[in-house]
Amino acid sequence: MEFFLDTAEVSEVVEIASWGILDGVTTNPSLIKKSGRDFKQVVREIAEICSGPISAEVTALDADGMIAQGLALKADLPDNVIIKVPCTDSGLKATKVLSDQGIGVNVTLIFSAAQALMASKAGAMYISPFIGRIDDTGHDGMALVAEIMTTWKSYRVTNTKVLAASIRHPQHILQCLLLGAHTATMPTKVFKQLVKHPLTDRGLDDFLADWADVEKAGKA
Ligand code: G3P
Repeated sequence: MEFFLDTAEVSEVVEIASWGILDGVTTNPSLIKKSGRDFKQVVREIAEICSGPISAEVTALDADGMIAQGLALKADLPDNVIIKVPCTDSGLKATKVLSDQGIGVNVTLIFSAAQALMASKAGAMYISPFIGRIDDTGHDGMALVAEIMTTWKSYRVTNTKVLAASIRHPQHILQCLLLGAHTATMPTKVFKQLVKHPLTDRGLDDFLADWADVEKAGKA
């Protein structure tokens, strides 16, 4: 599974990339606002730190505007930047035009398996179902990932990766792994929670205490 970081904080990308397991980064307008920084500059810096796909989202609502923004971003930003568009009819149109030109497109704000399949037919490189936001409504976000993975198998979809987004906790990642989702994008907090295990910490403490005794005995 590809592990993406969902952030527009460059320092977080530096930190997680230093672990050697970062496959890509997703940004969105809300994350850019939170960073307080210039959109293109942030994406440029992230794309230089992480060589995997970096999603930069368009904000136009009409297809022509999305296509124009997507092309302008591609012209201005490093090659590993891909274009994120919302799953609307205009978004599908823009996905088709951009992907036909060889531009990677991440279709975002996916809340149904039908939307996911339509985005794939339009040529999306990734589709982003928003798990946590579905959970927030009292429904089961992971059921959507399961439905998408099932339909992907039925229709032998191979051109589009399922990028689980709006991840809130490590269990979301584990469930995505079990369902075979190709990619998940998560906040730094979840990256850190995933690597941490109390038994690892306790085991390490025990090893170090025993090693100190070995050293004290002059046998190190
Ligand atoms: O990048 C899009 C997605 O991951 C948003 O997550 O936490 O705002 O629902 P969240």
